[in-house]
Amino acid sequence: MQFVQAFTTMVLAVATMTTGCREKKVDQESAPSTGGGSVVGEKILLGHIGSMTGDNATFGQSTDNGIRLAMDEQNKKGGIKGKQLDLRTLDDQGKPEEAAVAATRLITQDRVSIVLGEVASSRSLAIAPIADSNRVPMISNASTNPRVTKDGAKTRPYVFRVCFIDPFQGTVMAKFARETLKVSKVAVLRDVGNDYSVGLAQFFSAKFHDLGGEIASDQSFKAGDQDFKAQLTAIKAKNPEAIYVPGYYTEVALIGRQARELGMKQALLGGDGWDSEKLYEIAKGALDGGYFSNHYAPEDPSPVIREFVRKYEATYKSVPDAMAVLGYDAANVGFNAMQRAPDLSSSAIRDAIEQTKGFQGVSGIITIDADHNAVKSAVVMKVQNNEPKYAATISP
Ligand code: PHE
Repeated sequence: MQFVQAFTTMVLAVATMTTGCREKKVDQESAPSTGGGSVVGEKILLGHIGSMTGDNATFGQSTDNGIRLAMDEQNKKGGIKGKQLDLRTLDDQGKPEEAAVAATRLITQDRVSIVLGEVASSRSLAIAPIADSNRVPMISNASTNPRVTKDGAKTRPYVFRVCFIDPFQGTVMAKFARETLKVSKVAVLRDVGNDYSVGLAQFFSAKFHDLGGEIASDQSFKAGDQDFKAQLTAIKAKNPEAIYVPGYYTEVALIGRQARELGMKQALLGGDGWDSEKLYEIAKGALDGGYFSNHYAPEDPSPVIREFVRKYEATYKSVPDAMAVLGYDAANVGFNAMQRAPDLSSSAIRDAIEQTKGFQGVSGIITIDADHNAVKSAVVMKVQNNEPKYAATISP
């Protein structure tokens, strides 16, 4: 059902680009009545850009589920400033170029009040300058590369996120590997076309090295690759105790399987990009004994998490992953800011997001820092019997 809505939007977007007559119709449907760009008719329009299809489709779908859950709850409470909320989701198919096209469309044609997403840092990096230069607030739920919110020395005034960033996430796994797993020699296998993967590999390696560990082999691949045997053979020759693979679930799962086919027994370690039910479907147990850092553990006994998991399962019949939680949190941080803002202009919403302090999210307490990031704990999950199991919480 959620998917169908996104798909319909996508079809309309395609129709808009290809046929002049459809364009008019779409324009009329979404034209703001005020010209202010924030409020369409009696509704506040939210935009979500996500990978609803493609190799990381669960990222977009889970985020969309989380956002819709938050929106439905807010609408039941009467909306915001007496207005109901509506959501337009555009599928970027997992491509940064498409994410940029979607951002321009949502901002200049649909005139959304706020842009939610993306999950993948490379796609948020494509959206962020567009949101920022058009002065429309953007809240990424899950992009962890530092450059999303801060370009060089300059923080992007309109761009925020509700998750931690990769210098922290890389440190978490480097410390866990060195101090808890007592590993002293690792290999690193990164996706060179993915800003998140490249950054996280770097942050992990620097910290692991600082802690006295050795990076015995540093290998790379590209998203979409199917065969990782050359890199794995090179790694095998160095005999590391673990392999750090900061990639997304499709490639990570294949890497795990091929490592086992080559007779390699080392634990694979990784980051939040592993988080998808598809990881286990594709890996079929090959990642057992591995660990990855993440934003939340579904079995966490805290009442806030129990309540969210219950609601999510009742609505979507599946256990929420980290993107679902962060999609929900990103939307709620946006709603909370809209409620506190004196009016619904972009600048008022922006100022209010910037002032977010101590907001109780499902993924933790969210305070937006000077660089527009949220400082939060990470969890380490262990893969056991082809399932993720909570292993540790690491605080900043
Ligand atoms: N942090 C990843 C990135 O920046 C995206 C991600 C977040 C993937 C959470 C899975 C879960 O690209």
